[in-house]
Amino acid sequence: MEKKTVFSGIQASGSLHLGNYLGAIRNWAAMQYDYNNYFCVVDLHTITVPQDPSTLREKIREVAGLLFAAGINEENSVVFIQSEVKAHSELAWILNCMTPMGWLQRMTQFKEKSEKQKEEVSVGLFDYPVLQAADILLYDTQMVPVGEDQRQHVELSRDIAQRFNYRYGQVFTLPEAYIPPHGGRVMGLSNPDKKMSKSEDKQEDSISLLDSPDNIRNKIKKATTDSLKDIRFDEKRPGINNLLTIYQLLTGKTQEEIENNFAGSSYKDLKEQLAEVIIEDLRPLQDRYFELTGEKRYLDEMLQRGAERAGEQAERKIDHVHKSIGLR
Ligand code: TYM
Repeated sequence: MEKKTVFSGIQASGSLHLGNYLGAIRNWAAMQYDYNNYFCVVDLHTITVPQDPSTLREKIREVAGLLFAAGINEENSVVFIQSEVKAHSELAWILNCMTPMGWLQRMTQFKEKSEKQKEEVSVGLFDYPVLQAADILLYDTQMVPVGEDQRQHVELSRDIAQRFNYRYGQVFTLPEAYIPPHGGRVMGLSNPDKKMSKSEDKQEDSISLLDSPDNIRNKIKKATTDSLKDIRFDEKRPGINNLLTIYQLLTGKTQEEIENNFAGSSYKDLKEQLAEVIIEDLRPLQDRYFELTGEKRYLDEMLQRGAERAGEQAERKIDHVHKSIGLR
């Protein structure tokens, strides 16, 4: 049986955190053997909000390096940088011309992000989901593994594909989101009512994948909890629930086992053990990352091969699109 095609993307804004890891890239690495995969560092999405050029340049390479360090490999996956495959911007423009503004006005992520920037909001930020649809549709993607916050964007991609196919014939495959049963929404450490995020101003809110052991211990120590005592999974207690969820995702133990483990323990004990579990889990990833990026050319060459492989498929698709809408 032919393998299904998977596509997913990740921005290069700020450092990758535990939410990105548990909600997305750890799953990408684990599932890559059963699918045809494209994983993309979406630098054109990253510039929808202002970025410092030299920091951006560094972050693009850092994110790409972390994807490989997390275990994604060239044999099973095509890893590339979005701006290196020109068809992404080209298809985004074509899809812009057939996507109703009303569909984009309903996007909750745009509403949230634009509130912060008021009238400085760029057209690009508004149009962000159409570029995401282009990313997905270029590769005949069937499955898009993402965290919960991206569900609406993937559904929009499907709507855009359907509308296009209705007008011009069967050109695009309809994609579906795959949200992991656990880990699809890791919450912030200092603000557990909100998802852990890269743009969060407070550094302590998230664990970066490259944080040092002491940094991790400190952040977990300061994580918001509550004034109760018992250690139980309880969604009404977001702080403790989030710490336990992270512990569960990293150890693979059941909720019952974990609650039994920590019966009679203090929050301090839980935090100390959790910090060590995170440090041990990230250690091999960090080692691989520094090994990989130590030799600059090695990563560059892998990314160049990725862009070539992605480019071949993307060019075929854009050609088909051109022909079907009458540009050729
Ligand atoms: P981005 O860069 O914000 O996040 C990358 C992936 O990490 C997931 N994620 C989380 N999962 C669990 N808990 C969290 N706190 C958490 N924070 C982030 C995200 O859901 C995502 O899967 N728009 C996308 C990038 C994109 C894309 C695409 C994705 C561009 N084109 C095409 C899929 C397909 C984004 O900003 O992800």
